[in-house]
Amino acid sequence: MVEPILEVSGLVKHYPLTQGILLRKQVGAVRAVDGVDFTLNKGETLGIVGESGCGKSTVAKMLVNLERPTAGSIKYKGEDITKLSGRALKAVRRNIQMVFQDPYTSLNPRMTVGDIIGEPYDIHPEVAPKGDRRRKVRDLLDVVGLNPEYINRYPHQFSGGQRQRIGIARGLALRPEVIVADEPVSALDVSVQAQVINLMDRLQNEFDLSYVFIAHDLSIVRHISDRVGVMYLGRMVEIGRDTEIYDHPTHPYTQALLSAVPVPDPEAREHRERIILTGDVPSPTNVPSGCRFRTRCWKAQERCALEAPPLAVPSRFGEASGPEAHDCACHFAEAVS
Ligand SMILES: Nc1ncnc2c1ncn2[C@@H]1O[C@H](COP(=O)(O)OP(=O)(O)OP(=O)(O)O)[C@@H](O)[C@H]1O
Ligand SMILES: [Mg+2]
Repeated sequence: MVEPILEVSGLVKHYPLTQGILLRKQVGAVRAVDGVDFTLNKGETLGIVGESGCGKSTVAKMLVNLERPTAGSIKYKGEDITKLSGRALKAVRRNIQMVFQDPYTSLNPRMTVGDIIGEPYDIHPEVAPKGDRRRKVRDLLDVVGLNPEYINRYPHQFSGGQRQRIGIARGLALRPEVIVADEPVSALDVSVQAQVINLMDRLQNEFDLSYVFIAHDLSIVRHISDRVGVMYLGRMVEIGRDTEIYDHPTHPYTQALLSAVPVPDPEAREHRERIILTGDVPSPTNVPSGCRFRTRCWKAQERCALEAPPLAVPSRFGEASGPEAHDCACHFAEAVS
Protein backbone atom coordinates (compact mmCIF):
# COMPACT_ATOMS: atom_id res chain seq x y z
CA MET A 1 0.00 0.00 0.00
CA VAL A 2 1.28 3.43 -0.88
CA GLU A 3 1.24 5.81 2.05
CA PRO A 4 2.55 9.37 1.78
CA ILE A 5 5.00 10.38 4.49
CA LEU A 6 5.90 13.85 3.14
CA GLU A 7 3.61 15.98 0.99
CA VAL A 8 5.12 19.16 -0.35
CA SER A 9 2.90 21.67 -2.03
CA GLY A 10 3.45 25.12 -3.47
CA LEU A 11 6.82 25.34 -1.74
CA VAL A 12 8.56 28.69 -2.25
CA LYS A 13 11.79 30.21 -0.93
CA HIS A 14 12.71 33.71 -2.03
CA TYR A 15 15.83 35.35 -0.65
CA PRO A 16 15.75 39.15 -0.61
CA LEU A 17 18.28 40.77 -2.91
CA THR A 18 19.61 43.90 -1.26
CA GLN A 19 21.77 46.79 -2.31
CA GLY A 20 23.82 49.22 -0.28
CA ILE A 21 25.80 48.44 2.84
CA LEU A 22 24.07 50.59 5.42
CA LEU A 23 20.48 50.82 4.31
CA ARG A 24 20.29 47.47 2.54
CA LYS A 25 17.43 48.38 0.30
CA GLN A 26 15.63 45.41 -1.17
CA VAL A 27 15.95 45.55 -4.94
CA GLY A 28 14.60 42.14 -5.89
CA ALA A 29 14.51 38.50 -4.90
CA VAL A 30 16.43 35.33 -5.58
CA ARG A 31 13.71 32.87 -6.47
CA ALA A 32 15.66 29.85 -5.24
CA VAL A 33 12.56 27.64 -5.00
CA ASP A 34 9.49 28.88 -6.77
CA GLY A 35 6.49 26.57 -6.43
CA VAL A 36 7.50 22.95 -5.93
CA ASP A 37 5.11 20.04 -5.36
CA PHE A 38 5.96 16.42 -4.66
CA THR A 39 5.09 13.50 -2.44
CA LEU A 40 7.46 11.10 -0.74
CA ASN A 41 5.84 7.74 0.01
CA LYS A 42 6.74 5.57 2.96
CA GLY A 43 9.71 3.31 2.31
CA GLU A 44 10.55 4.78 -1.06
CA THR A 45 13.43 6.83 -2.42
CA LEU A 46 12.67 9.96 -4.36
CA GLY A 47 15.68 11.12 -6.34
CA ILE A 48 15.82 14.86 -7.07
CA VAL A 49 18.20 16.00 -9.79
CA GLY A 50 19.04 19.24 -11.55
CA GLU A 51 21.89 21.55 -12.46
CA SER A 52 23.77 23.67 -9.94
CA GLY A 53 21.66 26.49 -8.51
CA CYS A 54 18.24 25.04 -9.41
CA GLY A 55 17.19 24.97 -5.74
CA LYS A 56 17.82 21.39 -4.62
CA SER A 57 19.64 22.25 -1.39
CA THR A 58 17.10 24.94 -0.57
CA VAL A 59 14.32 22.34 -0.83
CA ALA A 60 16.36 19.99 1.38
CA LYS A 61 16.91 22.69 4.01
CA MET A 62 13.21 23.49 4.15
CA LEU A 63 12.35 19.80 4.59
CA VAL A 64 14.55 19.58 7.68
CA ASN A 65 13.55 23.03 8.89
CA LEU A 66 16.96 24.69 8.46
CA GLU A 67 15.15 27.28 6.33
CA ARG A 68 11.64 28.63 6.67
CA PRO A 69 9.60 28.59 3.46
CA THR A 70 8.39 31.89 2.03
CA ALA A 71 5.18 30.08 1.10
CA GLY A 72 3.73 26.61 0.72
CA SER A 73 3.31 23.63 2.99
CA ILE A 74 5.27 20.54 3.99
CA LYS A 75 3.09 17.86 5.49
CA TYR A 76 4.63 15.08 7.53
CA LYS A 77 2.05 12.31 7.98
CA GLY A 78 -0.68 14.78 7.13
CA GLU A 79 0.42 17.59 9.45
CA ASP A 80 1.84 20.84 8.10
CA ILE A 81 5.22 21.12 9.83
CA THR A 82 5.88 24.66 8.59
CA LYS A 83 3.25 25.83 11.08
CA LEU A 84 4.69 24.04 14.10
CA SER A 85 6.86 25.48 16.84
CA GLY A 86 8.27 24.53 20.20
CA ARG A 87 7.91 20.98 21.39
CA ALA A 88 5.75 19.77 18.50
CA LEU A 89 8.33 21.00 16.00
CA LYS A 90 11.16 19.36 17.90
CA ALA A 91 9.35 16.03 17.91
CA VAL A 92 8.79 16.17 14.16
CA ARG A 93 12.34 17.28 13.39
CA ARG A 94 13.64 14.21 15.10
CA ASN A 95 11.95 12.12 12.45
CA ILE A 96 13.37 13.99 9.46
CA GLN A 97 17.16 14.05 9.39
CA MET A 98 19.68 15.31 6.89
CA VAL A 99 22.90 13.85 5.49
CA PHE A 100 25.15 16.53 4.00
CA GLN A 101 27.16 16.66 0.82
CA ASP A 102 30.69 17.29 1.89
CA PRO A 103 32.04 14.90 4.49
CA TYR A 104 35.23 17.00 4.67
CA THR A 105 33.57 20.15 5.93
CA SER A 106 30.36 18.97 7.59
CA LEU A 107 32.09 17.15 10.47
CA ASN A 108 33.60 19.25 13.24
CA PRO A 109 37.36 18.48 13.12
CA ARG A 110 37.81 19.06 16.84
CA MET A 111 35.20 16.54 17.95
CA THR A 112 35.71 12.80 18.22
CA VAL A 113 33.61 10.56 16.07
CA GLY A 114 31.76 9.40 19.15
CA ASP A 115 30.83 12.98 20.06
CA ILE A 116 29.84 13.80 16.49
CA ILE A 117 27.52 10.82 16.14
CA GLY A 118 26.14 11.25 19.66
CA GLU A 119 25.61 15.01 19.42
CA PRO A 120 21.92 14.72 18.40
CA TYR A 121 21.32 13.07 21.79
CA ASP A 122 22.14 16.40 23.48
CA ILE A 123 18.98 17.79 21.91
CA HIS A 124 16.97 14.60 22.36
CA PRO A 125 18.24 12.98 25.57
CA GLU A 126 15.07 10.89 25.74
CA VAL A 127 16.38 8.75 22.86
CA ALA A 128 19.60 7.82 24.65
CA PRO A 129 20.05 8.34 28.39
CA LYS A 130 23.59 9.42 29.28
CA GLY A 131 24.75 5.99 30.41
CA ASP A 132 23.54 4.38 27.22
CA ARG A 133 25.08 6.76 24.69
CA ARG A 134 28.41 5.15 24.04
CA ARG A 135 26.83 1.79 23.46
CA LYS A 136 24.38 3.35 21.01
CA VAL A 137 27.16 5.16 19.16
CA ARG A 138 29.21 1.95 18.92
CA ASP A 139 26.19 0.17 17.51
CA LEU A 140 25.77 2.93 14.93
CA LEU A 141 29.42 2.67 13.89
CA ASP A 142 28.93 -1.04 13.40
CA VAL A 143 25.71 -0.51 11.43
CA VAL A 144 27.44 1.77 8.91
CA GLY A 145 30.37 -0.61 8.52
CA LEU A 146 32.97 1.11 10.70
CA ASN A 147 34.92 -0.47 13.51
CA PRO A 148 33.31 0.52 16.87
CA GLU A 149 36.85 0.80 18.27
CA TYR A 150 37.26 4.00 16.22
CA ILE A 151 34.90 5.85 18.54
CA ASN A 152 37.64 8.10 19.95
CA ARG A 153 39.24 9.03 16.65
CA TYR A 154 38.94 12.36 14.87
CA PRO A 155 37.47 13.01 11.41
CA HIS A 156 40.87 13.62 9.75
CA GLN A 157 41.82 10.04 10.54
CA PHE A 158 39.20 8.76 8.10
CA SER A 159 38.88 8.62 4.32
CA GLY A 160 36.14 10.48 2.45
CA GLY A 161 33.93 7.42 2.19
CA GLN A 162 34.40 6.62 5.88
CA ARG A 163 33.54 10.19 6.82
CA GLN A 164 30.34 9.99 4.86
CA ARG A 165 29.54 6.81 6.81
CA ILE A 166 30.03 8.85 9.99
CA GLY A 167 27.64 11.49 8.60
CA ILE A 168 25.10 8.77 7.90
CA ALA A 169 25.51 7.25 11.38
CA ARG A 170 24.83 10.68 12.84
CA GLY A 171 21.76 11.02 10.64
CA LEU A 172 20.50 7.69 12.00
CA ALA A 173 21.18 8.45 15.67
CA LEU A 174 17.66 9.60 16.45
CA ARG A 175 16.10 6.74 14.47
CA PRO A 176 14.34 9.02 11.98
CA GLU A 177 11.77 7.89 9.46
CA VAL A 178 12.91 10.20 6.68
CA ILE A 179 16.46 10.99 5.57
CA VAL A 180 17.10 13.92 3.28
CA ALA A 181 20.48 13.29 1.67
CA ASP A 182 21.83 16.33 -0.16
CA GLU A 183 24.33 15.04 -2.71
CA PRO A 184 25.73 12.51 -0.24
CA VAL A 185 28.19 11.02 -2.73
CA SER A 186 29.05 13.97 -4.97
CA ALA A 187 32.28 14.77 -3.12
CA LEU A 188 33.48 11.15 -3.20
CA ASP A 189 35.61 9.21 -5.68
CA VAL A 190 33.57 7.28 -8.20
CA SER A 191 34.76 3.96 -6.77
CA VAL A 192 33.54 4.92 -3.31
CA GLN A 193 30.20 6.35 -4.47
CA ALA A 194 28.71 2.92 -5.16
CA GLN A 195 29.74 1.64 -1.72
CA VAL A 196 28.00 4.51 0.04
CA ILE A 197 24.90 4.14 -2.14
CA ASN A 198 24.79 0.40 -1.41
CA LEU A 199 25.10 1.13 2.30
CA MET A 200 22.20 3.57 2.14
CA ASP A 201 20.18 1.01 0.23
CA ARG A 202 20.78 -1.61 2.91
CA LEU A 203 20.02 0.81 5.76
CA GLN A 204 16.76 1.76 4.09
CA ASN A 205 15.52 -1.82 4.40
CA GLU A 206 16.98 -2.36 7.83
CA PHE A 207 15.48 0.78 9.37
CA ASP A 208 12.41 1.19 7.20
CA LEU A 209 13.56 4.59 5.97
CA SER A 210 12.16 6.89 3.32
CA TYR A 211 14.74 8.89 1.37
CA VAL A 212 14.90 12.14 -0.51
CA PHE A 213 18.15 11.65 -2.40
CA ILE A 214 19.55 14.72 -4.16
CA ALA A 215 22.13 14.54 -6.93
CA HIS A 216 23.45 16.54 -9.86
CA ASP A 217 22.87 13.98 -12.49
CA LEU A 218 20.51 11.19 -13.33
CA SER A 219 23.09 8.40 -13.42
CA ILE A 220 23.83 8.67 -9.69
CA VAL A 221 20.24 8.30 -8.48
CA ARG A 222 19.29 5.61 -10.96
CA HIS A 223 20.18 2.63 -8.82
CA ILE A 224 18.59 3.84 -5.62
CA SER A 225 15.47 5.76 -6.73
CA ASP A 226 11.92 4.46 -6.96
CA ARG A 227 10.78 7.78 -8.35
CA VAL A 228 12.73 10.68 -9.78
CA GLY A 229 12.00 14.41 -9.93
CA VAL A 230 13.85 16.78 -12.22
CA MET A 231 14.25 20.42 -11.17
CA TYR A 232 15.00 23.44 -13.30
CA LEU A 233 15.36 27.00 -12.01
CA GLY A 234 13.32 26.57 -8.84
CA ARG A 235 10.62 24.34 -10.28
CA MET A 236 9.98 20.65 -10.73
CA VAL A 237 9.67 20.05 -14.47
CA GLU A 238 9.10 16.30 -14.51
CA ILE A 239 8.48 13.62 -11.90
CA GLY A 240 7.59 9.97 -12.13
CA ARG A 241 8.57 6.35 -11.60
CA ASP A 242 12.23 5.69 -12.32
CA THR A 243 11.46 3.43 -15.27
CA GLU A 244 9.22 6.12 -16.76
CA ILE A 245 11.80 8.87 -16.39
CA TYR A 246 14.72 6.84 -17.70
CA ASP A 247 12.89 4.99 -20.47
CA HIS A 248 10.34 7.59 -21.55
CA PRO A 249 11.62 11.02 -20.58
CA THR A 250 9.00 13.52 -21.60
CA HIS A 251 10.28 16.98 -20.73
CA PRO A 252 12.87 18.37 -23.15
CA TYR A 253 15.14 19.22 -20.22
CA THR A 254 15.03 15.64 -18.90
CA GLN A 255 15.72 14.38 -22.40
CA ALA A 256 18.77 16.62 -22.60
CA LEU A 257 20.04 15.53 -19.17
CA LEU A 258 19.61 11.88 -20.07
CA SER A 259 21.32 12.24 -23.39
CA ALA A 260 24.44 13.26 -21.46
CA VAL A 261 24.45 10.08 -19.35
CA PRO A 262 26.81 7.44 -20.76
CA VAL A 263 25.07 4.34 -22.13
CA PRO A 264 26.92 1.05 -21.63
CA ASP A 265 25.13 -0.80 -24.44
CA PRO A 266 26.82 0.17 -27.76
CA GLU A 267 23.72 -0.62 -29.81
CA ALA A 268 21.47 1.56 -27.68
CA ARG A 269 24.17 4.23 -27.86
CA GLU A 270 24.03 4.25 -31.67
CA HIS A 271 20.34 4.96 -31.61
CA ARG A 272 20.48 7.77 -29.19
CA GLU A 273 20.75 11.37 -30.09
CA ARG A 274 23.01 13.61 -28.03
CA ILE A 275 21.15 16.79 -27.14
CA ILE A 276 23.44 19.71 -26.41
CA LEU A 277 21.79 22.53 -24.54
CA THR A 278 22.84 25.97 -25.62
CA GLY A 279 23.01 29.01 -23.39
CA ASP A 280 23.30 29.25 -19.62
CA VAL A 281 20.70 28.69 -16.96
CA PRO A 282 19.02 32.09 -16.46
CA SER A 283 19.51 33.80 -13.10
CA PRO A 284 16.96 33.04 -10.39
CA THR A 285 16.75 36.80 -9.82
CA ASN A 286 15.36 37.26 -13.30
CA VAL A 287 13.42 34.22 -14.46
CA PRO A 288 11.97 34.07 -17.99
CA SER A 289 8.21 34.56 -18.39
CA GLY A 290 6.03 31.53 -19.04
CA CYS A 291 8.06 28.34 -19.17
CA ARG A 292 11.45 28.93 -17.55
CA PHE A 293 13.17 26.45 -19.80
CA ARG A 294 12.04 28.10 -23.03
CA THR A 295 15.22 30.17 -23.48
CA ARG A 296 17.18 26.93 -23.96
CA CYS A 297 14.48 24.76 -25.48
CA TRP A 298 14.45 23.67 -29.12
CA LYS A 299 10.71 23.13 -29.00
CA ALA A 300 9.79 26.56 -27.67
CA GLN A 301 6.98 28.46 -29.38
CA GLU A 302 5.11 31.66 -28.67
CA ARG A 303 2.82 30.03 -26.13
CA CYS A 304 5.79 29.06 -23.97
CA ALA A 305 6.63 32.71 -23.28
CA LEU A 306 3.06 33.55 -22.36
CA GLU A 307 1.91 30.63 -20.26
CA ALA A 308 3.76 28.62 -17.60
CA PRO A 309 3.00 24.94 -18.19
CA PRO A 310 1.59 23.22 -15.08
CA LEU A 311 3.16 20.01 -13.76
CA ALA A 312 0.52 17.55 -14.89
CA VAL A 313 -0.09 14.20 -16.52
CA PRO A 314 0.70 14.65 -20.22
CA SER A 315 -2.32 13.96 -22.40
CA ARG A 316 -0.66 10.98 -24.08
CA PHE A 317 -1.05 9.03 -20.85
CA GLY A 318 -4.78 9.67 -20.75
CA GLU A 319 -5.28 7.78 -17.53
CA ALA A 320 -5.39 8.78 -13.89
CA SER A 321 -2.79 10.38 -11.69
CA GLY A 322 -1.68 8.85 -8.39
CA PRO A 323 1.60 7.51 -7.12
CA GLU A 324 2.37 5.82 -10.43
CA ALA A 325 1.74 9.00 -12.36
CA HIS A 326 4.33 10.59 -14.52
CA ASP A 327 3.89 14.35 -14.48
CA CYS A 328 5.56 16.79 -16.80
CA ALA A 329 5.48 20.57 -17.13
CA CYS A 330 5.63 21.20 -20.87
CA HIS A 331 3.11 22.47 -23.41
CA PHE A 332 4.59 20.19 -26.04
CA ALA A 333 5.41 17.11 -23.98
CA GLU A 334 6.35 14.13 -26.03
CA ALA A 335 8.06 10.99 -24.81
CA VAL A 336 11.18 9.61 -26.36
CA SER A 337 12.22 6.00 -25.81
N1 LIG B 1 21.06 32.24 1.73
C1 LIG B 1 20.91 32.58 0.44
N2 LIG B 1 20.80 33.87 0.06
C2 LIG B 1 20.64 34.23 -1.22
N3 LIG B 1 20.60 33.36 -2.25
C3 LIG B 1 20.73 32.04 -1.95
C4 LIG B 1 20.88 31.58 -0.60
N4 LIG B 1 20.98 30.22 -0.62
C5 LIG B 1 20.88 29.86 -1.90
N5 LIG B 1 20.73 30.95 -2.71
C6 LIG B 1 20.56 30.94 -4.18
O1 LIG B 1 19.45 30.14 -4.48
C7 LIG B 1 19.66 29.40 -5.66
C8 LIG B 1 19.45 27.92 -5.37
O2 LIG B 1 20.49 27.47 -4.53
P1 LIG B 1 20.63 25.96 -4.04
O3 LIG B 1 21.82 25.90 -3.17
O4 LIG B 1 19.34 25.50 -3.48
O5 LIG B 1 20.90 25.20 -5.41
P2 LIG B 1 21.38 23.69 -5.67
O6 LIG B 1 20.45 23.14 -6.68
O7 LIG B 1 21.51 22.97 -4.38
O8 LIG B 1 22.81 23.89 -6.33
P3 LIG B 1 24.12 22.97 -6.23
O9 LIG B 1 23.90 21.85 -7.20
O10 LIG B 1 25.21 23.88 -6.68
O11 LIG B 1 24.27 22.50 -4.82
C9 LIG B 1 21.05 29.75 -6.14
O12 LIG B 1 20.96 30.74 -7.13
C10 LIG B 1 21.72 30.29 -4.90
O13 LIG B 1 22.72 31.21 -5.23
MG1 LIG C 1 23.10 22.05 -3.42
